[in-house]
Amino acid sequence: VAGTTEAEQFVRVPRQEELSLTPGAAYVHFTSNNTIFGTQWAGEPDRGDAPLVADTSSDMFSRPIDIAKYGLIYAGAQKNLGPSGVTLVIIREDLLARSQKSMHTMLSYATHASSQSMYNTPPCFGIYLMGLVMQWALAQGGLEGVGRVNARKAATLYAEIDRTGFYRGTAQKDSRSQMNITFRLPSEALEATFAHARR
Ligand SMILES: Cc1ncc(COP(=O)(O)O)c(C=O)c1O
Repeated sequence: VAGTTEAEQFVRVPRQEELSLTPGAAYVHFTSNNTIFGTQWAGEPDRGDAPLVADTSSDMFSRPIDIAKYGLIYAGAQKNLGPSGVTLVIIREDLLARSQKSMHTMLSYATHASSQSMYNTPPCFGIYLMGLVMQWALAQGGLEGVGRVNARKAATLYAEIDRTGFYRGTAQKDSRSQMNITFRLPSEALEATFAHARR
């Protein structure tokens, strides 16, 4: 593990100077948004020469993404893109050539790329729904537009958290997620009431 804030209970993402990258590494992996702890990388870590690989499941298409910086991006659809059962993968062509020959056919991205993602019967309904979500995102002004709305929504919630002193944001300010706003209440009893509140 090149960097972790586990000792601080994941209240922030690691800082660049805390990362100990292995020279000659096959890739560097990071998760752009931590759903549970409510932290998010503002940008990509500087990963040296190794291809950058990212799990972007929980913030994919929530804001513009500089695709040129990545070797491989994978995102389970079920958070942001559509129903579960579909995973969006964007992979640089030269990395396809590195797919190990010993890898099972079905597990190789090269197989799926060369068959236009139809090597087996794809989950058509999930892919169709993902297409609708993408059309919706385009109608919002694309990822710039979606990102602006998300930034505004997150700012509203964090402002309330900071203003009241009642809610306690769990993530450090410079690592706050625009996707998952995590907070605690003054007591666990109040949290139980909050979680089970019904209209
Ligand atoms: C970034 C990220 N990747 C992967 C997963 C796994 O998703 P699931 O449990 O729906 O398979 C999660 C779940 O929270 C996630 O936040």
